Amino acid sequence: MALPNPHGPEKKLMPLLLKGEEREAEIKKAESLPKVYMSSRETSDVLMLGIGAFTPLRGFMNKAEWQGCVYDLKLPDGTMWPMPVTLSITENELKAAGIKEGSEVALYDKESGELYATMKVEEIYTYDKEAECKEVFKTLDAEGHPGVAKVMAQGEYNMGGPIKVINEGKYREKYPKYYLYPEEARKLFEEKGWSSVVAFQTRNPMHRSHEYLCKFALESGFVDGCFIHAIVGKLKKGDIPGEVRVKCYEVLAEKYFPQESIAVGVYPMEMRYGGPREALLHAVFRQNWGCRYLIVGRDHAGVGDYYGPFDAQNIFNELWEGALELQPMKIAWTFYCHECQSMASLRTCPHPNESRVILSGTKFRRLMQEGADIPKEFGRPEVIEILREYYKTAEKVEIKKGAYEDITPDALKK
Ligand code: ADX
Repeated sequence: MALPNPHGPEKKLMPLLLKGEEREAEIKKAESLPKVYMSSRETSDVLMLGIGAFTPLRGFMNKAEWQGCVYDLKLPDGTMWPMPVTLSITENELKAAGIKEGSEVALYDKESGELYATMKVEEIYTYDKEAECKEVFKTLDAEGHPGVAKVMAQGEYNMGGPIKVINEGKYREKYPKYYLYPEEARKLFEEKGWSSVVAFQTRNPMHRSHEYLCKFALESGFVDGCFIHAIVGKLKKGDIPGEVRVKCYEVLAEKYFPQESIAVGVYPMEMRYGGPREALLHAVFRQNWGCRYLIVGRDHAGVGDYYGPFDAQNIFNELWEGALELQPMKIAWTFYCHECQSMASLRTCPHPNESRVILSGTKFRRLMQEGADIPKEFGRPEVIEILREYYKTAEKVEIKKGAYEDITPDALKK
């Protein structure tokens, strides 16, 4: 069995990062082009496009692509695509830089001032931000939802067109062992003799439930390898930095998994916290990374209480035949149960909530920040040790209660 095909009609990875002389020439050309400054989300999308993770997109979406994706989960050619990949600009910026349809522009990251790409502006269009948030994030709460806040802060126009990427940032230097392009991960899987790989998406240091989800997948008989694939682009305040989490994944993979069935990788996207829609996006690009399954557990990619605990699993039922080659591996709400004396889930444990150690990344972070004792049923000592070191010097921030902490068994069963 071969690894699944990359997403899209051509079934071929399409990295947009230029190399060698072509890249040098494009950098030179960019010097004379009008400058556009990108938000950190837009820059992170350029990185994903550069390494081929967003195959088959050729650049930032035009209006028909935006519309198809927002309302129908598909691009005009019918390819499933669940979240906008757009570049916004204000009217003033357009005028000041003299940008029109047909212009070529140079794309800079606003925060660092670094040049990342060039773009041929095929279309400049207005778009309905509220409709985008309602459809994609299921809320208009710009105060509480970090993804909505970012969309509402965007310029009033989007610019669509193909891009050429000339900078891949510092990720390779920062994570030399784990920053794998989709193409490189596919090679690694083949070298390991894996043809059916399950991806584990995470933005948190891994606690016992996370570990259990990966082990459950490995025990299922459906996969021969598990790819812990962590997001290391920008996160929200209170989330733990990538370099600290990578140490946690490394020690967990080394000490608690057989080496022939585990691999770790990181990717540069910025979290949008889009719950169900983001789960679909995670699925699309994990297929590009060569994975056949994606673990989707409780409140995947969620924030606050905007999504039901299994909305991100259920959205896969809305997909049509052939929308994806990858399949979600939907796993129930998991926890440690003192009466079962093991990890368990709502599907396997009959005991009351008082017997359970309910695990969530948010609670984990809050307890760690407070310096509380962490029970061994919650996290592995080696992981907790790394986090203790981090929290000694980390800035203290308010970590609000997660929506799925302190829940009653009845609520769990609803
Ligand atoms: S996420 O934003 O990347 O989804 P996190 O790193 O906490 O956050 O979750 C990684 C994966 O583990 C997701 O698929 C999530 O649904 C799943 N998950 C986290 N905690 C639990 C739990 N207690 N039970 C079941 N699934 C869980």
